[in-house]
Amino acid sequence: MTLTITVLPASTQAGKETIRFLLQDESQPKIKAIYRDPAKAPSEFTSNANFSAVQGDVSGAGDSELDFDDSDAVFYIPPPTYDGRDTDDFARACADRVKAALRKASSSVKRLLVFSASGAQYEKDIGILSLNHIADTILKSSAPEVVIAKTGFFMENWASAFETLEGEKPYFESLFTPLDYKIAMISTVDIGKVMARFLLQTGQPLPSAPYIFDLHGPRSYSANDVRAALEIATGKKDIEIRAIEPDKLFEYYNSKIPEKYAKGLEEMTVAMLPGGLVAGDMERPENVVRGEIELVDVLRKFASGEATKAVSGAF
Ligand SMILES: NC(=O)c1ccc[n+]([C@@H]2O[C@H](COP(=O)([O-])OP(=O)(O)OC[C@H]3O[C@@H](n4cnc5c(N)ncnc54)[C@H](OP(=O)(O)O)[C@@H]3O)[C@@H](O)[C@H]2O)c1
Repeated sequence: MTLTITVLPASTQAGKETIRFLLQDESQPKIKAIYRDPAKAPSEFTSNANFSAVQGDVSGAGDSELDFDDSDAVFYIPPPTYDGRDTDDFARACADRVKAALRKASSSVKRLLVFSASGAQYEKDIGILSLNHIADTILKSSAPEVVIAKTGFFMENWASAFETLEGEKPYFESLFTPLDYKIAMISTVDIGKVMARFLLQTGQPLPSAPYIFDLHGPRSYSANDVRAALEIATGKKDIEIRAIEPDKLFEYYNSKIPEKYAKGLEEMTVAMLPGGLVAGDMERPENVVRGEIELVDVLRKFASGEATKAVSGAF
């Protein structure tokens, strides 16, 4: 049977990488990708007859209901918002809409895959990760098969380091301190591969309902490890690390995004640091799937220009 899989929002990093793997799969699933602006669908996808881009805003701003009627599986990535709306209200509104669409399409959708984050099981003191806690809680039994993937920090976030490596004294800023403290990271390519696998297994038994796992890379990395990987990837020597100490995190984030969201990112980062609520999840995840891609290989692609990422948002 050919699967029809809906991905929303398809413009997210996780959505895009997953669609790429799905379109390459020999079973040739049909992909329905929901974009606020379908013109953003890349030509590598739109040129594939198994791909269709449809318009939809997951928060419901000024458009009709989400339609999953023809889908066997749905992949939902809770998007962040920086447009003035309250993060928790936004997360609730989005997840409620996804849940309503699943209920309406109950005869077709067998599997829901929810993208989440390490630490999202905690109810509070996790900052912006409340977005994921709310989505996981609302959606955990909204389809016959529910899979919740809690991922570590994206390795691709370090693309921002390349902005400050070109000067006479190359440096990058690290939100993670002390500099030898290791954080769970994962490449978005590994994310796409694993998410595609779980979607293509729709209809196959899961170990539990919902099935929840952590997704990390092959190892964890400290700021010192990031520096070593940057030095290998770029051939530059003596790259300086400018540590953003915990008491400066708010100022750092607020230089990029409004105050109300900067607070959420500060709290999330502190929760990940030593002694923080999420620190244990980073070090000793209970049920972990590991990707294969090393940080140095992700950074090599940015250094060679093979990969580009618009550096925007918070990281
Ligand atoms: N970044 C990380 O390191 C990391 C780690 C673990 C988990 N996560 C989780 O990954 C998820 C994505 O976070 P991210 O910061 O990495 O974002 P992202 O993948 O960069 O995606 C943000 C995209 O969401 C889309 N979007 C925003 N509001 C939307 C709406 N109302 N309707 C439809 N699309 C909308 C926007 O697309 P357009 O502007 O093109 O419409 C935007 O490009 C979050 O749940 C986050 O907690 C992230």
